[in-house]
Amino acid sequence: MTGMRFNQNLLKVPLYIGGKSIEAVKEEFGLEDVIKMASNESPNGPSPMALEAIQRALKDAHRYPGIGERDLRRKLAGRFGDGFTEDNFVTGNGGSDILRMITQAFLFEGGNAVMCSATFPLYHIFVTMYGGENRQVPYTADYCHDLPAMLAQIDDETRIVFLCSPNNPTGTIITKSQLDGFLAKVPDHVLVVLDESYNRYVESEDYPDSLDYIRAGKNIIAVRSFSKTSGLANLRVGYLIAPIELADYVRHAQLPFHTSDIVLAAAMASMDDYEFHEHNRKTILAGRAFLRDSLRALGLSCLDSHMNSVLLIDPPIPPAELEIALLRRGIIVRHTAGFGIPNGVRITVGTPEENAIFIARTEIILREKLGIPAGTSVESKLKLMERV
Ligand SMILES: Cc1ncc(COP(=O)(O)O)c(C=O)c1O
Repeated sequence: MTGMRFNQNLLKVPLYIGGKSIEAVKEEFGLEDVIKMASNESPNGPSPMALEAIQRALKDAHRYPGIGERDLRRKLAGRFGDGFTEDNFVTGNGGSDILRMITQAFLFEGGNAVMCSATFPLYHIFVTMYGGENRQVPYTADYCHDLPAMLAQIDDETRIVFLCSPNNPTGTIITKSQLDGFLAKVPDHVLVVLDESYNRYVESEDYPDSLDYIRAGKNIIAVRSFSKTSGLANLRVGYLIAPIELADYVRHAQLPFHTSDIVLAAAMASMDDYEFHEHNRKTILAGRAFLRDSLRALGLSCLDSHMNSVLLIDPPIPPAELEIALLRRGIIVRHTAGFGIPNGVRITVGTPEENAIFIARTEIILREKLGIPAGTSVESKLKLMERV
């Protein structure tokens, strides 16, 4: 390939390594049963109404996509109500594609983007891809976005601030008063991207409603996904909500026929499946409380989460080793080094049965690795070790 010219920005982009798939782990470790708790997917499968819609739409698989994209935007506008029309929305091939479009639209000719150092890695990957400078700001002692420090990083060349709330992988949120204080100080030339891919799992009353800011015409884009609560991660559909001028501008970065009518039909059908969403939400809220309490009962520390995963911090054996030990026992979780937290392991909430199996196998691994005999509790042994 001598003589060819390569895009130097692309060469700097680290390849995104997703969570391992169930099939890959079965093959690699020779296992028959594998549980995946690694990619923040829905444990309850897709909505049956989405599956039926896919069947109906398949008969037009030979056609290019038609009006499904507009129909989804209309349906979203109807759902969000007052002040929104279909023009406030842009759809994408997953929330990832939305983040790609936004970054491509704003990061050019030497701009920079400010983000938390421990967050969803696609932000810094896209900023690098489009030739921008990443300003990754360390998180606070309690694993939250350090908003004052992020403000201090903004200068004349800052184009985007990425805020992820709930934040992947910490599960922490930015409260309304924190966001209000931050937005009051962000200069007008900066776009604030609020990634709300996990917003449906938040219970806190302090969680701000981004739609209010968008209705008020602020320089804010909210990013949402059908992958998580709607259980459609494999179909790839997400969207943004923005003031119309911003949405119209970002649309310039959209690929023609970027997602199929089949996928869009599934997304729209799932929006009508209230029962499915409620069931999913209940599974997650109960499951994350169970995981948090059970991990703490073992003497391990984990953060309070507002999303569908729990972050284990400083496990008593190195996180990469714990990840591998769990893989060998048929459970896929995620060491969070690639998310800026080298001392963490992220566990996606599964079904009640999966959660219980995860806790049982984690206990077995800790007993084995730390040499804790059957009569002694893991918690008391860990407390002893702390004192030494
Ligand atoms: C914070 C955050 N934003 C966006 C996405 C993108 O999701 P998708 O492309 O599946 O819609 C993810 C996926 O894990 C995420 O964690």
